[in-house]
Amino acid sequence: MSKGIFISFEGVDGAGKSTHIQGLAETFRQQGRQVTLTREPGGTPLAEKLRHMVLNDAMDPLTEALLMFAARRSHIQEVIQPALVRGDVVLCDRFTDATFAYQGHGRGFDLAVLSQLEQWVQGHADGLLEPDMTLWFALDPAIAAQRLAAARVPDRFESQPQAFFAQVHAGYEARALASPGRVVRINAAQSRHQVWQQMTQVLVRRGWLSIMVPVPAALTPP
Ligand code: TMP
Repeated sequence: MSKGIFISFEGVDGAGKSTHIQGLAETFRQQGRQVTLTREPGGTPLAEKLRHMVLNDAMDPLTEALLMFAARRSHIQEVIQPALVRGDVVLCDRFTDATFAYQGHGRGFDLAVLSQLEQWVQGHADGLLEPDMTLWFALDPAIAAQRLAAARVPDRFESQPQAFFAQVHAGYEARALASPGRVVRINAAQSRHQVWQQMTQVLVRRGWLSIMVPVPAALTPP
């Protein structure tokens, strides 16, 4: 069904993935690929409205999980699937692993129900639409919290206590263990240059990037 490459990026808030996603988009374009750079929740006008709600309005965990999947459905149908059919590299800042980590492990929502929703939203004739690779920016939640505190005004998730992020981190660990062929652990405690090197080496080994991968301007100084 797909000629493109679907890569998602995951990690607790403050793990530092956003700068690297920008840098990777630039690098893929330099190497002649069409890139769709997108995020979840969000990526379509409807999903961006849902994003605003889930990041700001009080709601119970089931409502939160349903809105995440509603946003995902719109995003897959309008953006991700067409881009993959065109042959784009789709770089997606968070995808379904975030729902398992945040709503499942963080909020304690039933993982079996999330799997059911995943089937409804991502299921198709050939199986389940999943990223070809997920780069998990793994970082001690205490360090992530320090980085975040210095960075911006927190939203509904970012303002959660550290114990919540410890559970989210454990959730990502469980997802990585369950899908070792898809999820690649990136040590996000390293310097930005080292993270970049580790990430691009993985993509070179998969044959998605050529050997020459200069550090993008956005990542200097380290
Ligand atoms: P961002 O700040 O990385 O753009 O992500 C928005 C927040 O939404 C982040 O705190 C994680 C959270 N989130 C979930 O709780 N469940 C999900 O399924 C997704 C995609 C994000």
